[in-house]
Amino acid sequence: MSQIKVERLSFRDIDSARISVENAFEEDPLCEYLRDKQTKKSGFLKGIISSLQLDARFVLAVHTKTAFTVDHGKALAIYVPAASSAGKPRPTPLKLFLQQLVKILSYTSNWLNTPEQKKKYEGKLADLVRDGVGKKVNEMVFLHGLATSPEHQGKGYGTALVKTVTDIADAEGRECYLLSSNINNTSFYNSCGFYSFKETVFGADNPTWKKDPIVVPLMVRAAKGKEPCEKSLLMG
Ligand SMILES: CC(C)(COP(=O)(O)OP(=O)(O)OC[C@H]1O[C@@H](n2cnc3c(N)ncnc32)[C@H](O)[C@@H]1OP(=O)(O)O)[C@@H](O)C(=O)NCCC(=O)NCCS
Repeated sequence: MSQIKVERLSFRDIDSARISVENAFEEDPLCEYLRDKQTKKSGFLKGIISSLQLDARFVLAVHTKTAFTVDHGKALAIYVPAASSAGKPRPTPLKLFLQQLVKILSYTSNWLNTPEQKKKYEGKLADLVRDGVGKKVNEMVFLHGLATSPEHQGKGYGTALVKTVTDIADAEGRECYLLSSNINNTSFYNSCGFYSFKETVFGADNPTWKKDPIVVPLMVRAAKGKEPCEKSLLMG
């Protein structure tokens, strides 16, 4: 693990990072659910918008120094510092612009979802976080995006990136949370100190979804030296 070099994501890594994320999430259950029942036309358009959305998120993360990578985009993690962080710098005009751009692209992408997907997706993850951790969310670090390009998985990149983000949370004495779109990642996140806290399910009451429902756990990691969260489901 010691030879794995974690660096801040830079602008020149963005192309590689987008490809890694797109390939890593190709078989992700939640992404598959959101792609379901799209027409060819909306699928194509959505693909373009999703790529633009990813690029805008990466540019924002590079600008705000909130993304880390291994091997220049082969694996990456994006995090959102706690809203209550002391000394948080005033947002620059570029940051405000990029935040609006990401919002507009997310809105457009969601507009192309089927009505059932919209109903399920809008607000459901936000509700999970609100019901799970409530106002405490403002004190927590959010591990927002983690992906390793499939051909580099299992080399320890993911563990090194999660550790980089949890080290930041530990240095500030904060809890960390994430939303896991793949239940198969639970033991990986358990090994990084995260425990399933509360969960939501997609597809269970959607008549157009023919596969197994998708469980999305809210996972929380205690601040360094503190006990695991008392409401933790302690799954996995
Ligand atoms: C989850 C993910 C980020 C883990 O990244 P990674 O770089 O493979 O992580 P590591 O190499 O540090 O692996 C950590 C452990 O998970 C296991 N693992 C996870 N994914 C694996 C894979 N595809 N192949 C082999 N092992 C894998 C490893 O065996 C390892 O266990 P070990 O320490 O007992 O050997 C990566 O599998 C991925 O990008 N998945 C698709 C996207 C995704 O699900 N992102 C998270 C959304 S919440």
